Amino acid sequence: MDILKIIEKIEKNKTASKQELAFLLENISDSELEQLRQKAQMTAIQSFGKNIYIRGLIELSSYCKNDCLYCGIRRSNRNAVRYRLSKEQILSCCETGFALGFRTFVLQGGEDPYYTDERMCDIVGTIKSLYPECAVTLSLGERSAESYKRLYDAGADRYLLRHETANPDHYARLHPSSMSRKNRVDCLYELKRIGYQTGAGFMVGSPYQTYENLAEDLLFINELQPQMCGIGPFIPHRDTEFAQKPQGSLRLTLTLLSLIRLMQPKILLPATTALGTITPKGRELGILHGANVVMPNLSPQEHREDYALYDNKICTGHEAAECINCLSLRLKSIGYQIVTDRGDYK
Ligand code: 5AD
Ligand code: FES
Repeated sequence: MDILKIIEKIEKNKTASKQELAFLLENISDSELEQLRQKAQMTAIQSFGKNIYIRGLIELSSYCKNDCLYCGIRRSNRNAVRYRLSKEQILSCCETGFALGFRTFVLQGGEDPYYTDERMCDIVGTIKSLYPECAVTLSLGERSAESYKRLYDAGADRYLLRHETANPDHYARLHPSSMSRKNRVDCLYELKRIGYQTGAGFMVGSPYQTYENLAEDLLFINELQPQMCGIGPFIPHRDTEFAQKPQGSLRLTLTLLSLIRLMQPKILLPATTALGTITPKGRELGILHGANVVMPNLSPQEHREDYALYDNKICTGHEAAECINCLSLRLKSIGYQIVTDRGDYK
């Protein structure tokens, strides 16, 4: 198979076969990757110019009732330090964020039953009334269809729920038996049906993952057509049974970012914190490969280290303002700028 032909096909048809995608992922050469990168970067520039959207990430809670094998805040990790933010603390993060130019707040947390529909609707409703020009994104894991609907009616605009892997057998190797790929995907379709701008996504290089699995992830994105897609390398966490597994590769993550950009020219695609963690210029490289979003941390300083999904997470020692300044400079160095904008899907 000719990889440049496959890339041309993806450009033209926005898709390719599973075999072609898996072959490309496994065999792409440096010069072919550079051509793919240029096409992806051009596509992103056509969609967004050299503007980068920012989302303020507020990590609500490090409690989680789930036990995903890869995650540092899984229920069975006794060493994890648990915290949850009060409504007042969350509002104070929004206040700081608004002043720094954030117009999207992402409320993310472990699956913590403390954040009932009633509490969450109150928090979301208050944020929307104080900052009507801002979007609220939720990332609270799997909830019932009814719960998703109530939160949407309370004003939530978007929901992030990575599918983690589209392959059911691979899914079963990363999660406890109480969780299933089917329930995850049902949640995603429900979120879309309700009207959320919906984000799916997956880890690159998670244990037992094959190139075919990644091809399936790409085809799943094409099928679901989410407005957002979050991908980042798997990074082992010392207190999980995957502690000794290798981290996901930078090159493969960048290749996938470029492919997603070509397949979905308008999708909102973050250069993730995990990407910035495995290499110092990871987020800049992500942007140059077609990403158009960054998600700096707005969580209170004293809890940052405790929302440790993986080891060595960046920015846990920095104030939101420091990260914004740092990111502005980083993006400027590659010819891009942060914009004060909700950054909705168009
Ligand atoms: N490495 C990389 N990403 C991880 N996530 C959870 N644990 C890890 C890890 N060890 C990602 C999952 C989840 C998101 C919030 O963080 O994809 O959906
Ligand atoms: Fe946080 Fe650079 S982005 S310190």
